[in-house]
Formats: sequence, C-alpha cells, structure tokens
Amino acid sequence: MLHVGTPSIFINFAGRPIAQGHQSSFSTRRAADAMRLQATWLPLAALITNTAANDKIEAVREVFKRTWDGYREYAWGHDSLRPATNGSFDDSYRNGWGASAVDALSTAIIMGETEAVGHILKFIPTIDFGTTSTEVSLFETTIRYIGGLLSGYDLLRGPYKDMAPSKEAVDNLLEQAIRVADLIKVAFDTPSGVPDNDLIFDPEPRRKGTPDNWVATVGSLVLEWERLSDLTGNREYGELAKRAQAYLLDPQPPELEPFPGLVGSRVWVDNGTFVDAMGGWNGGTDSFYEYLIKTYIYDPVRFESYKDRWVLAVESSMKHLASHPTTRPDLTFLSMYLGETLFFYSGHLACFQGGNFILGGLVLDEPRYVNFGLELTAGCRESYIQTTTGIGPELFTWQDNATAPDAPNNSPPPEEYADFYEKAGFWIVSPQYSLRPEVIESYYYAYRATGDEMYRKWAWDAFVKINNTCSVGSGVSSIADVQLTVGAPVFYDFQESFWFSEVLKYIYLILEDDSDVQVKRDGGDLFVYNTEAHPIRVFEGTGKRRRR
Ligand SMILES: *[C@@H]1O[C@H](CO)[C@@H](O)[C@H](O)[C@H]1NC(C)=O
Ligand SMILES: *[C@@H]1O[C@H](CO)[C@@H](O)[C@H](O)[C@H]1NC(C)=O
Ligand SMILES: *[C@@H]1O[C@H](CO)[C@@H](O)[C@H](O)[C@H]1NC(C)=O
Ligand SMILES: *[C@@H]1O[C@H](CO)[C@@H](O)[C@H](O)[C@H]1NC(C)=O
Repeated sequence: MLHVGTPSIFINFAGRPIAQGHQSSFSTRRAADAMRLQATWLPLAALITNTAANDKIEAVREVFKRTWDGYREYAWGHDSLRPATNGSFDDSYRNGWGASAVDALSTAIIMGETEAVGHILKFIPTIDFGTTSTEVSLFETTIRYIGGLLSGYDLLRGPYKDMAPSKEAVDNLLEQAIRVADLIKVAFDTPSGVPDNDLIFDPEPRRKGTPDNWVATVGSLVLEWERLSDLTGNREYGELAKRAQAYLLDPQPPELEPFPGLVGSRVWVDNGTFVDAMGGWNGGTDSFYEYLIKTYIYDPVRFESYKDRWVLAVESSMKHLASHPTTRPDLTFLSMYLGETLFFYSGHLACFQGGNFILGGLVLDEPRYVNFGLELTAGCRESYIQTTTGIGPELFTWQDNATAPDAPNNSPPPEEYADFYEKAGFWIVSPQYSLRPEVIESYYYAYRATGDEMYRKWAWDAFVKINNTCSVGSGVSSIADVQLTVGAPVFYDFQESFWFSEVLKYIYLILEDDSDVQVKRDGGDLFVYNTEAHPIRVFEGTGKRRRR
C-alpha cells in the first residue's frame, strides 16, 4: 500500500542524505555468499500443505486478539489505538470513521474471529460518513473504507457466508460503501476527470482545489469503484475511475514516459497531462503498477489493456531498473529514475514489487516474472536480516555496480555506514518502521507460487521480530529506528489500521491451508487483494476465464 504523504524519497534524490545517529553495531562480517539468493521457482513443487503450522496460526491469533482488544478497550470507534498511552487517534486519511474497525473486518472474517466480526458488523451502520473535521483523501477512503466494506460484503456472501449473522448486517456493508462513494465522488468533478484527491467537508463535500495528483492515487481506484458498479448495477462509479485512469494508460506528453510503461509521478488535474518524469515502484507511484495487473485479474475481458501496460512496465523494469549493489552483487533491487537517470533508492513500501511480479507471472504464465519477483523478494529480505532488530527500514540506498563509482548519482556510503554497506549491500536513509506489510506480503506470494517452506520461515521470522520489537502497552506501535543499538525502541505510540488488514492477514494466510481466498498457482484466483489487502471477489459475469 502506498503513502503519498511521505514522498521524501523524491526530495532526497540529489543529496543522498543520511539518517542521523544510526551507526552500525555489527562487528562480524558474514560472507556475502552465505546470503546468496536461494530463491528458485519450482514449477512442480509439492502441493501446499500445512504441516506444523498450527501452533504458529494460534500464536498469530493471539497477537490479533491482544492488539484488537487494545483497540476495542481504548480506541473503539476511533481510527487508531495509541498503544503506549492507551489512547485513541483520529486524523485526515482516516477521518474519525473507525478505520481500524473497518480495516480489521476482512482479516477477522478470514481468521474466523466471530466475536470481532460481530462487533464490527454492529458498528458499521453507525458510521457517519457525512461528517468529519479533517480533510478527506479520495485514495485512502477508497482503499480502506470502500475496499474494506466491499471485501466484507464479498466474503460474507461467498466463502464465509456461515459467519454472517443476518442478511441485513451484510447488506449494510454495501449500503455504507455506496454512501461513502456518493459523498466523495465529487472529487472527479474536474475539467479532465482526473480527480482532486483532497476533499473538505464543510459540511457538504467539496474539492480542495489541489492542482495535481499522484499517479498512485489516481491509478488505484478502478478495482474498488468498478466492483461497486458491478455489485450495484450503477455504472457511474466505475466510469468515473476509468475515465481518470485513461490518462495514465496513454501518458502525455510522451517524453514524461522515460521507459516504455514507466511514467512520471504526478498529473495535472486540469488536463491529465504529466507533471514530471520521475518515478519507479516506490511511494507515489507504486500501487498504480500494482493495480494494472490486479484489475486485469478482476476481469481480464474488460481490462486487457491494463495488463498490456503492466507487461510494458515490468519488461522495462527488468531491463532498465534492475540494479546490483557493488558490495553485494548477488542482491537485486529496483532503481528509481528522473528521466533516464537512475537513482538507487528503495524501501519498505517498494518491497511489494516482488509479490506483484510473482502474481503477474502466475496469472500470465510467465516464469521470468515469477523468478525476477523471487529475486526482488530475497533482496527485500536482506533489508530485514541485516538490521539489529531484524526489521527493514523505511528507505535505503546503495551503490550500483554498473554505474561509475564517481558518478553524481552513485556516490559511496558516508564513512559511518561503510562497514554496514560492505556487509549488507545497502545503507539506511530513513530508519523508522511503521508496521508496514510489504515484505511479508511478497513472502506470501513467493510461498503461494513455489510452495517452498523457506518463505514461511522468512515470514515467521519477520513476524516474530516485529511482534517482539513493536509490542508496547495494549498493542503494537510504529518505531523510530530499526537499527537499534542500545536500550528500548522509541515508540511513535501509533498502531496503524493496516496492521490489522495487511500484516496480520498475510502472516495468517501464508501459514493457512489452501482455500477460496488464497492466491492460486495456476492463476485461477477467486479473489484479488486490493492495496490495503482487502480481498475483492473476481468478476464472474463474462464467462471467459483467464488463460491457464
Ligand atoms: C495542463 O495543465 C497545466 C496546469 O494547469 C499546465 O501547466 C499545462 O500547460 C497544461 N498542459 C496542456 C497540454 O494543456
Ligand atoms: C553486477 O552484478 C551482476 C549480478 O551479480 C553481474 O551479473 C554483473 O556482471 C555485475 N556488473 C558489473 C559491471 O560488475
Ligand atoms: C508477541 O509478543 C507478545 C508480547 O511481548 C508475547 O507475549 C507473544 O509471545 C509474542 N508472540 C510471538 C508469536 O512472538
Ligand atoms: C495500557 O493497557 C495495558 C493493557 O491493558 C496495560 O498493561 C498498561 O499498563 C496500560 N498502560 C497505561 C499507560 O495505562
């Protein structure tokens, strides 16, 4: 999932800044080839089984219950728990509508947490989407609220219908999704149809008038809005999102698409043309690429052209953006770009890439994408296992082995990071961890594709480190520094709602048996996960199945 609120990576391009006060405490140096890429795609690997995972599933359930109980007790009805001080928090992007409750719904259903599901279903009809004191984000409201509500609706009418307490409780989910969509659709009321992402309710919703919009926030709407149209029969929702998306599929002017399929970061709201030629798979652009293939999975008939753009972007990324650090050429990261100039930055948000390449490779029956996705996943794992906490940082950088070492975009690490870089193949630019899911998310796809138990182990190790490091008070919290050398972590006292929708869901699903909601190896998925990890039922209506 993306966060455009922190595009510091763009601002930091030229200066290659370093984070303050995060010295490496490593004294031993592990041989580089000990970490050598182990990932291989095993097309004929054994059937996915669930041996020895049951105790771990119970442990995940306990962590869900503990952090959910904290929210229930101290922050119920608010967006987020402040676990260290046992308080609550509401803010723009979540708007005081109970984000944690809505985000937790699809996970609670999949985990069979009947009591939590009951509480959430009672709460949802009481949410007043017409009132908020904070600015509203079209994108965040779409992925968390509309996505969460539609997912609950699809799950409780589908494979989990036995958990539905009543038809009315389920219908309320769709009604609330319609209500919030009707309130925020004014965002699309612009000269071009490219939405203004920012809305103000005073009390009627109106556009704030922001002149440009990010590619990810424009380009991660069609899945949810088209689903809403398909469920209601009202075509308007999907048409609005698709009209905006069209500007991203045919980018103008052409020079702001530096590599085929790889575009700039922002478009003008007035006319849908691109603002810049800066991009990659990181925050600001990430879920645009993610949704090209996911929307195709939703309906390969309607969205074939989206798949074609995804393939272009993926081929260009493999050809132009793949990068190997000078000290660890065994690792593969994806670079960012400004025009055709590469910048060697990646980070936690970008680490969904591996999973997305794997998913597309499975669906399109293209082992090259799966294998490359596995390489990217192994690279992101390195960002975890090299830090003292065993958790990866928000942002990291490296020196590219194919670019001159004295090139302005390829400077060496600052002195205090030299030893760390020698061993790790990257150094840390932003050291915080915000309970993000992307690395475990990619392990999930890697496991579903290969059936290799190694990925379950990687995911479990990451989850235990996150739980051990971030648990505080009545829940878990974002932390300031993953490269902790002495003492306790600095807690931001904030339990993100996507802790429930994403981290807990992906760790649970990687351990769980095969089922209707699991990603399939043969591309026959019944559900596709939105960028907040809410599973949306794949469209069944056109009668044409995907290839394979
Ligand atoms: C699109 O709108 C922006 C902002 O108003 C403007 O700077 C740009 O020139 C416009 N481009 C075209 C092709 O009209
Ligand atoms: C960079 O690393 C890759 C992957 O290990 C290797 O194939 C390539 O030869 C290296 N390039 C240079 C210039 O050393
Ligand atoms: C998670 O953390 C809690 C609190 O520290 C601990 O009691 C529990 O055993 C941990 N669970 C796992 C799976 O590590
Ligand atoms: C917050 O709640 C937890 C669990 O109920 C408790 O252990 C902790 O002492 C509380 N902290 C504060 C600051 O009240």
